[in-house]
Order: sequence, then structure tokens, then C-alpha cells
Amino acid sequence: MADDKEIIRESLKLHLNLAKEMGVGELAFSSPAPSPPPLKGGGISRTPSPLRGEGRGEGEKNAHQLATLRTEIGDCTRCILHKGRTNLVFGVGNPDAELMFVGEGPGADEDLKGEPFVGRAGQLLTKMIEAMGLTRADVYIANIVKCRPPGNRNPEPIEVATCSPFLKRQIDIIGPKVLVCLGKFAAQTLLQTEIPITKLRGEFQDYGAVKVMPTYHPAFLLRNPNMKRAVWEDLKKVMALLGLTPSTSARS
Ligand code: URA
Repeated sequence: MADDKEIIRESLKLHLNLAKEMGVGELAFSSPAPSPPPLKGGGISRTPSPLRGEGRGEGEKNAHQLATLRTEIGDCTRCILHKGRTNLVFGVGNPDAELMFVGEGPGADEDLKGEPFVGRAGQLLTKMIEAMGLTRADVYIANIVKCRPPGNRNPEPIEVATCSPFLKRQIDIIGPKVLVCLGKFAAQTLLQTEIPITKLRGEFQDYGAVKVMPTYHPAFLLRNPNMKRAVWEDLKKVMALLGLTPSTSARS
């Protein structure tokens, strides 16, 4: 009996630590009336989505499933990328998010911190999210591969084949309504196409039941700031689909 209690205590501790690692700020344990998913972000107005199943406690269930997936990935050595990594970058954000962003793979800053999109490109992504009237805590952010490719090279096909099933499971668990693919690599990999990003961007594509909006990568925008306008047009289409209005500080 004492042993059982100890096992429960330990597994709860493990889950709480993993949930924290994934950016879950708070876990509610009151069963009859679970709190609705966190909807922060001033200037946002949204209609409740049937996909979110508000009141059914999907955030807790999804957080638990994500923690289980993270445990399964473990201290991964499935591909060669593990040799150069400091931290595996699993993903971060709202486990019940309607909106998910997917990039290519961690860079140097992400590798050091263990969190996606925290470097210069990440700071721009954060601004894009805020311009939509949301915060990083409202959305979920992940990458095609979870370990940094050396010298920020593109991930090799074998690395993508090894790692992308984990991203697919994250998408299945979270069940976003819209997924924004950041850049050519994420868009072409997820959509299994060789169509150039210049042609893909700005038009919704289908990934099962999830609507996918391919757009330019924030790192590309840092080098080509004049393309921010095009990305904002793409994000406005996403906002329209989600019933969001831009924050008052964002461009029209
Ligand atoms: N670029 C990406 O594609 N992902 C990150 O996490 C950071 C930079």
C-alpha cells in the first residue's frame, strides 16, 4: 500500500515535470467542471469552437498524452542528430490549441534552451502571434525534427522519416483546427509535395481534417522584411477561419 502511494506520487511528479517542460502553465484537477482552455491575449475576440470541446477537459487529457509521447521519445538516439544536440526540442504551448505552428528544426538558441523558436526568428514569430491577438501560450509550436541539424543544415530524409511520426502524433493529440507551416521545408514535408513555397503560400491545404496554411519562415522574413506583408495576408486568412480579430496594434 505504501509502495503504491509512492509509485503514484512519483508518476504524478514525472507528469507534472513533463507538462511543465512542455509549457503547460497550470493543470486543474477538479473533475466536475474543468476550466476552459487558456485564452489569453488582449484584443482577441473569438467564438467558441466545437473542435475545442470546451468543458470536456481536453487540455488535461492532451497534456497527459503529450507527456506520455515525450516519455516514449526519451533520450532519443534514433538518428544521428542526437550526437550534436544539447537538448531535444519537443514542442511548447497549449495542448488544446486550435492553432499550431510548425518549423523545420531547432537552431542554436533552441538547442540550448530546449524550446522551439526562441532565437531571432522566434522573436519575430512571437510578434506575429501577438499581432494575431494571441500569445505563445495560446498556440502550440513544434518542428519537423526535434534535434538541431549541425550548422543549421536541412534535415536529411532519413532524419525526417525517423522524427516526423512524432510530430504527426503531436498533431493528432492536439487536434488543431489550423496548422501554419513556417517555410518551404515544413510545408513540403508535411504536405508531401515539391511545389515551391512561393506557389504554396497563402492558400489553405488539407492535412487530414486540419487546414494547413503554408507561409514564409520568420528567418526568411528577417532577411526579406518586405515579405512581411505577404505573411500578414496569410495570417489574416488563418484568423478569419478561426474567428479571430487582430490585436489593435497590428496592421490592417
Ligand atoms: N527555425 C525553425 O524552423 N525552428 C525553430 O525552432 C527555430 C528556428
